[in-house]
Amino acid sequence: MKIGVLTSGGDCPGLNAVIRAIARKADQFGYETIGIMNGWKGIFDESYKQLTLQNVAGIINRGGTILGTSRFSPFEQKDGKDILLHKISREGFDALIAIGGEGSMHIAQLAYEAGINVIGVPKTIDNDIYGTDFTFGFDTAVGIATEAIDRLHTTAESHHRIMLLEVMGRHAGWIALYSGIAGGADVVVIPEKKTKISEIVDVLKSRYKRGKLFSIVVVAEGAEYLEEELKPKTGKKKLDDFGRERLGGISYYLAEELEKRTGFETRATILGYIQRGGMPSAFDRVLGTRFGVYSVEMIKAGKFGRMAAIQSNIITDIPIKEVIGKLKLVDLELYKVAQVFFK
Ligand code: F6P
Repeated sequence: MKIGVLTSGGDCPGLNAVIRAIARKADQFGYETIGIMNGWKGIFDESYKQLTLQNVAGIINRGGTILGTSRFSPFEQKDGKDILLHKISREGFDALIAIGGEGSMHIAQLAYEAGINVIGVPKTIDNDIYGTDFTFGFDTAVGIATEAIDRLHTTAESHHRIMLLEVMGRHAGWIALYSGIAGGADVVVIPEKKTKISEIVDVLKSRYKRGKLFSIVVVAEGAEYLEEELKPKTGKKKLDDFGRERLGGISYYLAEELEKRTGFETRATILGYIQRGGMPSAFDRVLGTRFGVYSVEMIKAGKFGRMAAIQSNIITDIPIKEVIGKLKLVDLELYKVAQVFFK
């Protein structure tokens, strides 16, 4: 059995834990594991690297992916499907494990429909993949964002300022909500719950009236509806290779507006790629390891066209086609918990 493994989409802490676990479990079954470099592009470029017990050693604590990644889609290329099938059969892959986010699962499903034995492993710091309670990378990102909030408190308190922290979260505000609760934010702004700027201003003013001379506001980058209130400041956005708008920057505009409307000095910090980089947390290493081991067991059981998932702390699998085109948005009950502290 020859298994190809690829990582696709944005990098994420925990990817190397999955790669290591796949190679180790495959070795136990006597399977050969080939790393495909730079996502699906590696198949087109015929860029491969044999994964051995030696070269996956010592990588569980490393961020990013030793295989490299890209947002390349074979099905967007001229004759892409034929090239993909030809190259996979020429290389002699019996099965592929695609580790990626929603866009990558979409490609995995198309590959499966084209006749390739694909297994999906969900990955994103945004934690918004449908069908799995958690994705690895999320816990690490929340830890980093929480530490950032703790650190922003220092300047907020000393200078009596409103401090905004912008975190990732394209469609879902999981990172904002979790870190906001953990860091004691005074307002959390997420894509799923439209919050008017006037509502944020009311909370901030009432805090100052009560003698609270500083505030912390956490904003998810995808809270785009705010732009309607802030227009025409935010211009046209660039697109990434999956055709998605590049986000980031909403907090700068919001900070300006809050300062204007409250009269309080306001600053914004965009956490950016810091929250996606560096060492994975212990939780993400364990989850990545569980997914990696399980994905090889899925291959043994012939469970192709399916994605590994964690549900109620049990590792299981679901059809990839049930996952794509959907999102796991934040639990509004959890938002209500955060809201208790918006005052
Ligand atoms: O990993 C998902 C994500 O973090 C999104 O929240 C964000 O919009 C995107 O990646 C940005 O990644 P890149 O700049 O690498 O395209």
